[in-house]
Amino acid sequence: MASLKIVCSLMVIIGSLSFTPSRAFPGFNFGWGGGVGQTGGGYTGGGVGQTGGGYNGGGVGQTGGGYNGGGVGQTGGGYYGLSPAFYQYSCPQANDIVMSVLEKAIAKEPRMAASLLRLHFHDCFVQGCDASILLDDSATIASEKNSGPNKNSIRGFEVIDEIKARLEEACPQTVSCADILALSARGSTVLSGGPDWELPLGRRDSKTASLSGSNTNIPAPNSTIQNLIALFNRQGLSVVDLVALSGGHTIGVARCTTFKQRLYNQNGNNLPDATLERTYYNGLKTACPRTGGDNNISPLDFASPDKFDNTYFKLILWGKGLLSSDEVLLTGNVGNTVQLVKSFAQDEGLFFRQFATSMVRMGNVSPLLGFNGEIRTNCHLVN
Ligand code: HEM
Ligand SMILES: *[C@@H]1O[C@H](CO)[C@@H](O)[C@H](O)[C@H]1NC(C)=O
Repeated sequence: MASLKIVCSLMVIIGSLSFTPSRAFPGFNFGWGGGVGQTGGGYTGGGVGQTGGGYNGGGVGQTGGGYNGGGVGQTGGGYYGLSPAFYQYSCPQANDIVMSVLEKAIAKEPRMAASLLRLHFHDCFVQGCDASILLDDSATIASEKNSGPNKNSIRGFEVIDEIKARLEEACPQTVSCADILALSARGSTVLSGGPDWELPLGRRDSKTASLSGSNTNIPAPNSTIQNLIALFNRQGLSVVDLVALSGGHTIGVARCTTFKQRLYNQNGNNLPDATLERTYYNGLKTACPRTGGDNNISPLDFASPDKFDNTYFKLILWGKGLLSSDEVLLTGNVGNTVQLVKSFAQDEGLFFRQFATSMVRMGNVSPLLGFNGEIRTNCHLVN
């Protein structure tokens, strides 16, 4: 029996976990997460300490070569329906199809990797990873594409559409748009030189979107460190997740309008952000004048804008983070964010492992499971 085989092979990988039938997938005998590694710190092998905050996953993702038990936003549950093997029988070629489209798109335009990584983030922070971000305006939908953080900013929809079209051909009505976003985020990271990870799948697509949620849950680039921590906590994500996932800014660009305040009027006193390194600041002023130029773009990691590496954290140490929200991870001087920035700047392997772990955690935020939601046939529209 298919589900039995999956359970058995998983038992080999993580033998010490106990399995319980999943509530979300009664016919899919498969559930983990919950109490695993719930307490205590030091949850990555490499020494990133986790203080406070009930935490699922523990050492599982690190040692088993696998993934973290889910449970973000599902504390105490103990059942979880996402599984890396979800499409093993229904669409075994799903990831290959995603990767072949990504390879072409990213070869043509390296920035596309960044845009797709960001799409998954902006999806997950608004009513969970449910592809709500992909829904267009309609009689019943106020599209998230028009929110402050998204408008004139998020991109990559044509690539998602091409992936969806190929998947509908190969495995009709099987692979959700939400999973396509998660697979594309991982594939984009890998193709940019970053880490790979085992990705739990089985998210279903929402029939609703939340424009207001998109406006309130996605952090602004002038957020304080307290702001950033609070918005990540709201998603069940920790300070470690915040710092590691901010490392996504190792690729891609930002528009002048998102960092202009820092250059000319950081604190309402017509002075620049004092934490900006001087020569970097002078260069940015050319790229982003006091008036106009709002859509001019600058790399988030100017040293290696297309390469997924830990340069982003080194730049922050040098006062060369582009967004205020990047620099405050260091200068906000709250909790262990300073130490985390330093550790990731020193040890790329540590950053990669934590980024992978935190991407799984972000991808586990409130997925629709079982009979909730649907598998859209067109990612722009509810069925
Ligand atoms: C911590 C809070 C965060 C803030 C305040 C923030 C803010 C921003 C802003 C303002 C931009 C530029 C948008 C534009 O100019 O149109 C941007 C770009 C980007 N963000 Fe973030 N972001 C955050 C977290 C993340 C996370 C968690 C990820 C992914 C793991 C991510 C991935 C990206 C990528 C890859 C880009 C470049 C996109 C492109 O070039 O198309 N960001 N972010
Ligand atoms: C951040 O930017 C917004 C929009 O420009 C502005 O209304 C707000 O006052 C700024 N917040 C801070 C803390 O500077």
